[in-house]
Formats: sequence, C-alpha cells, structure tokens
Amino acid sequence: MILSEINLENIRSHSITKIKFSEGINIITGNTGSGKSSILMSVEYALFGKIGEGKDEGKMLLRRNAKDGSVTLKILDGKNEYEVSRGLKRVNEAVRNDDSKNYINKDNTRVDLQNRASDINSYVNRILNIYSENPLKMFETITYIKQDELKNLIFETGQYKQEYIDGLLQLNKYLTVYEKMREIISEIKKEIDIDRKEIELSVDENEIIKTETKINENKTRIEQIKKQEENDNILLENKKIAKKQKDSEVEFERSQKLKFTKISTEIKLKEAEIEKYRAEIAKIQVKIEQDSKKILSFDEKRKDYLDKELKEIEIIVESENEQVKKTYAELYKAEYSYKNTIDEKNKLKEEEKREKLNVLGLEKEKTELETQIANAPDSENKDEIKGRISEVQTIKREIESEKEKAIKSGTCQLCGEKITSEEHIKEEYNKKIKECEEKISKLSKDYENIKLSKNELEKRFETIKLRLSTENEKLSAINDRLIALDEENRKAEYEQVKKRYDEENKKLENLSNQLKKLREESKLLNEHEKIAIEIKNNSKRIEEIEETIKSTSNYLEKLQSEIKDVNFQEDHLKKLEEELKLITDETNTINYRITELKKEKEMRENQLIYDENILKELEIKIKKKMEVTEKLAKKEKLLKLMSNLREDIRNIREYVRLRFINEFRSLFKTRFEELRNESDYSIDIDKNYNVVISAGNEEMDARTLSGGEKTSVAIAYRLALSSLASILGGVSKNELILMDEPTSGLDKEDINALTNAITRINDLKQIIIVTHEDSMKNIADNVIKLKKNGGVSILY
Ligand SMILES: Nc1ncnc2c1ncn2[C@@H]1O[C@H](COP(=O)(O)OP(=O)(O)OP(=O)(O)O)[C@@H](O)[C@H]1O
Ligand SMILES: [Mg+2]
Repeated sequence: MILSEINLENIRSHSITKIKFSEGINIITGNTGSGKSSILMSVEYALFGKIGEGKDEGKMLLRRNAKDGSVTLKILDGKNEYEVSRGLKRVNEAVRNDDSKNYINKDNTRVDLQNRASDINSYVNRILNIYSENPLKMFETITYIKQDELKNLIFETGQYKQEYIDGLLQLNKYLTVYEKMREIISEIKKEIDIDRKEIELSVDENEIIKTETKINENKTRIEQIKKQEENDNILLENKKIAKKQKDSEVEFERSQKLKFTKISTEIKLKEAEIEKYRAEIAKIQVKIEQDSKKILSFDEKRKDYLDKELKEIEIIVESENEQVKKTYAELYKAEYSYKNTIDEKNKLKEEEKREKLNVLGLEKEKTELETQIANAPDSENKDEIKGRISEVQTIKREIESEKEKAIKSGTCQLCGEKITSEEHIKEEYNKKIKECEEKISKLSKDYENIKLSKNELEKRFETIKLRLSTENEKLSAINDRLIALDEENRKAEYEQVKKRYDEENKKLENLSNQLKKLREESKLLNEHEKIAIEIKNNSKRIEEIEETIKSTSNYLEKLQSEIKDVNFQEDHLKKLEEELKLITDETNTINYRITELKKEKEMRENQLIYDENILKELEIKIKKKMEVTEKLAKKEKLLKLMSNLREDIRNIREYVRLRFINEFRSLFKTRFEELRNESDYSIDIDKNYNVVISAGNEEMDARTLSGGEKTSVAIAYRLALSSLASILGGVSKNELILMDEPTSGLDKEDINALTNAITRINDLKQIIIVTHEDSMKNIADNVIKLKKNGGVSILY
C-alpha cells in the first residue's frame, strides 16, 4: 500500500495544491513555513478526520478567511485505487467537518456509506489494516514520525520513555486496573473494618438473658406488692373507724379540760387581784400613818399671819439693799481718791530722792572744783611734761635698737659679755624697755591731770553753781506739792464711808437672815398643807378599794361553785390521748408502707417497660449483628479474591511486558544490523527500554556514540517500535513511513548518517520525508519542492 496523490483546497498556507507521490523515497523540501508539515497533517486528517489528540483541528487546518476547504488522498493497494476525501466548513466562529464533502471512491466508484464520518473511519481502517481501539494512535506509532520525535525517543528520561512505550503497547491498562483495584481493595477493607467494629461494639447474647431475668424478677415482685397493698387497705379502713371514735372521746375530754382550766385560771386571777388590793390598802395605811406624824405641829392660822410678815420684810430688805448699793458706790469713790493720793505721794517722794541725790553730787563736784582751782598749775608745766615724755620715748627706741644689735652680734652692749642665750638678752633689754614704758605712762597721766587750765576750771564751777540752784528750786516745788496732797483728810474721808458701809451691810445681813427663816417656815407650812390633803385622799382611796374587794370576792365565790360542777380528770385524758396516738401512729405506718409500695411498684413498672424495650432493641441488634457477620464473611472472601486477582494482574503485566521487550529487542537488533554492521560493540535494550551498549564486559552510555550511530540507533529503535506496534495492533505489514523533519537538531554528520541509514531500509514500500535538508534530495525517488508566494504555498 502506498499513497499516490494528495489534493489540498484551502488548507493552511495551501490554496489549491496537487502533489503526486511515488513508490520509494519521497522528499518534500522547502523553507520554513512553506507548507511542508501541512501536507503530512492533511494525510492524517484525510485518513482519520482528526489530527493528533488535540482539539480544534478544523481551525488549525482550514485556511484563514476561507469559508470551506477539503483534503483528498489517493491510496494504491495492490490493484485497487482508493480516494478518501474530507471537507471543512466555517460555522460562525467554529470550523466543523463538512459531512457533505466526505466520501470514499474505490476505483473511481463512490462507496455507499450510511453514517458518513464513522463509516469512512472504519473503511479507512480496513484499507490500512488497523484493527485497534485507537486507530489514530496506532497510525502515529507505526507510520507517522512527527517532528522532534526521533531525538526525544533516545535522549528522554527512562520514565518518559517507559510511559510512552507502555502507552503505545497499552501496558498502562494493566497498571490502571492494578491501581484501581487497590482503591477497590482499600474500600472493601474499610467496609470490613466498619463491620468488624460494628460486631465488636454490638451486644452480647448474654445481655438478652440478663435482661429477661431482670424482667421476670420485676414481674414477681410487682405481684407481691399488689397483694400487700390489698391487705394494707383493709387494715387502714379498720384503723380509720377506731380513730374516729377515739377522736370524739378525746375531744369531749379536752373541752372539759378547757372549761376547767379557764375557770381555775380566772379564780387564780381574782384571788391575785384581791391580794393585790389588800396589799395596796396596807401600803396606803402605812403612808397615812407616816404623813400624820409629819403634820402633828401644823397650824393653819400661823400660815396666814406668816404670809403678811414675809411681804413686809421683803420690802424692807429691798430698800436696804438699794441703800447698801449706793453706799458702796461712795466707798468705791473715796477709796479710789485715797489710793491716788498715796500713789502721787510715792511718786513725788521718789522724785525728791533723785533731786536730793543730784544736789549732793553737784555739791561734791563743786567742793572738788574749789580744791582744783586752788591747786591748778600753770601752762608751762604742761609743756615740760610733754618734753619729758618724748625724751623717754627716744631712750626706749635706742634700747630697742641695741637689743636688735646684741641679738645679731651675740655680745651684750650693756655688759660686753658673750651672750649664751637669746632669752637672756631679751630679758635684760625687755626689763629696760618696760621701765621706759612705765615712765611714759606715768608722765602721760600727769599730763592728763593738768590738761585743764585754771580759767576753764572756774568756768565749770560757775555752771555747777547755777545747776545747783535750779535743782534746789525743783526740790522746794516737790515739797510744796507733797503738802498740797493732804493725805490725812483723804484717809479720814475713806474710813468714815467705810464705817457707814459696814454698818449698813450688817443690818442688811440681819434682815436677810430673818427673811430666810420666815421663808423656810412658810415652805414647811405649805408642805404640811399638801400632806393633809393627801391623807384625806388616801383614806378615800382605801374605802374605794374595799368596795372593789367586796364585789370581786362575790364573783370568786360564784366561780368556785361553778368549778365544782365540771367533771374532769387529767389522767383519763392522757390515757385517751395515748390511745389515739397509737392508732394514728399505726395508721401512719400503714400509709407510709402503702406509699412506699406504690413508689416501688411504679418504679418497677417503669423499669419493666424500659427493660422490655431494651429487650426488643437487643433482639434487633443481635439480628443485625448476625446479618453483619454473614456479610463480613462474604466481604472477607471477596477481599481475598480481589487481592489474588490484583496480584495476578501485576504478574500478567510483567509477563506481557517481558514478552514485548524480548520481541522489541530482537526487532531492534535486526533493524540496527540492517543499518550498520558493527563488530567492536554490541547493542541491546534493557527491561526499561533503554539502549544498552557493551564492548566486551564494559557497558557504555548511548550518548557516547557518534552522531551517525545515534541516528542509526534512533531509527532502528523507532522502526522496531513501528513493527512491534503493527504486530500488536493487528496490522499485517507496515509498508509506509511518514517522517516530519527527522533531521532537525542534527549536525551534518548525523544527517549524512541518517541519509545512509534510510537508503538501507529495504522492507518499506514508501517513505515520505519532510525536510529542510537539500542534501537529502540525493537519495530521493521523488522530490517535491515547495515555497510560499504571497502567503500561498506553491510547487516549483
Ligand atoms: N489556518 C491557516 N491559514 C493560513 N495559513 C496558516 C494556517 N495555519 C498555518 N498557517 C501557515 O502556513 C504556513 C505553513 O505551515 P507548515 O507547518 O506547513 O510549515 P513548514 O513548511 O512545515 O515549516 P517548518 O519548516 O517551519 O516546519 C506557515 O507559515 C503557517 O504559519
Ligand atoms: Mg513543518
């Protein structure tokens, strides 16, 4: 089977393009964006109505701004020629498959297809011999090697490669099932756990037996209680009757007691009352007696007379009092005047004493001055003393300078001897200096004494005489004033008033005493009068009380006769009350018992209901527990089954994978040997699909290979994979390979190696390669050159 022709209408950069393919190697060349890959995409679209696994292939394919377009692919298979066509149309924003343009011709005759798109797909699968779940994926694995795919296959990580290849070989299905089963198993385990816990937590069969026993016990006890209650009720009735009878007896006896107590209390009360009255009478009588004694001397006439006398004396006392006050004022005045005179006299005496002293002093001074004047020296005498003072001062100075010299020279100026001690010098000279000083002082005193002249002294004498006469005059004036004070008269006056005052005072005192006595007497008489009245009142009160006692005694007699009629005995009442108490106590005991029994019955009945419900629940739970146990057994069985199955699946996957790898290894080795004949190293694939190179015992990395060797490995690897996939996918034989830019990313050496390798492939009918590389044209059976002109791809 080969592709013979493709027609493109409004596909990507292609407006209308017709390309013819030949058997063998077809090389499509052209610059970037000239429309090369668009051709291979169109082949895929024609065959499957899709490009890759992506979405929006319509938008990717239909030429921009074009309303519709189409791809028509011709396939030669043996003697038959098939023409597969698919249309595209723009609907609003989207681009859809145009069913009306889809068709298949076989040998120029339209094949009748009912459900177009899917029918076309299954028809194409038949032409291509692909019987897989996902024919497009199978085609991309076996036939269509996309841009960059070769490079990636060799150099990508083991993980990527494994996933990719496992995906191709659909081994990941096992993995998915294996993983899914883990989830299922864990779910089952969870459920088993829940069941086990439920069983564990669920009730024990013994619980039912226990509850049943409890119910039966309660029932028996309730029956007992009912019987006891009946008996007690009969007893209670009897007690009620007995109590009623006893009650009325006690009540009668109590009323008797009440009556008796009431009367006897009243009797006691009345007796006490009489007693109290009697005591009061006795008290009043004592009082009357005492009062009577007090007023034995009471004279009513004397009282009237006394009042008159009292008033008269009061008037006299008042006037005497006034007189005393007046005299007192006079006395005060006379005393004041007499005291003033004494004070004045003392003052003058003091003054006189001072003046006398002054006069004495002045007279002494006067006598002294008289002597001084008589002995007063002349003024020359004075100058002479002054001269002598300065002479002595000069001598003193000389001695002082000699003293200095002597200290310095160490020889005494006075005695001419050697001085042994400084102190000695000082002593000698100081003695002399002191003598000089004493002389100076004496002369200075003399000078002072004679400093006043005779004239001056006489002047002073006159002054003193004048002052003396003035002082004497003052003294005689003081004497005059002393005489004028008249002290004797003042004293006589004072004493006279004083005498009068004392007499008047004494008189007043006597009168006051008399008045006091009369007042006391009057007071006593008043008191006596009051007591006399009180005695009368008290006598009257005694009469009243005696009257009351009489009436109370009558009432008491009446009560005493009444109490005799009441028939009451304390012992009898006590006995009755005790009997009643006994009946009441018994009734209470029965009542208490009945209440307790009722309570117990109620409690037990409630417990019974509760226990019966519990029993029901327990039975349900046990039933459920049994069901769960049964289910659990089933689940455990299922779990075992599943776990075994899961293990089997893993084993199957490993087995299939191993088988694939062995197949893959042999295909790869054959392919590689076709491409290269290497003797210095051998090449293989490990269980993780990695290429392993070994030289002797040494293992090498695929990266150590040369560019050409790498490319050869890559092509052998990819073609082996194609073959393996075709076998697995049920494709009888793959005769076609489409390669998009297998050279991209390869250097010159690699490209040459690739070119050589491709020429050595001899079991494929047709190879279509899209490439930039001009050099590849050399190995082509058919060259298709493309370029873009004004945004449109054209062949040239
Ligand atoms: N729907 C479209 N309408 C018009 N032009 C499109 C559309 N889709 C893609 N193109 C353009 O078509 C041109 C051809 O694309 P294509 O992929 O075929 O180029 P190529 O020749 O394979 O280039 P490269 O060598 O880079 O792979 C490109 O310039 C691309 O931008
Ligand atoms: Mg391209």
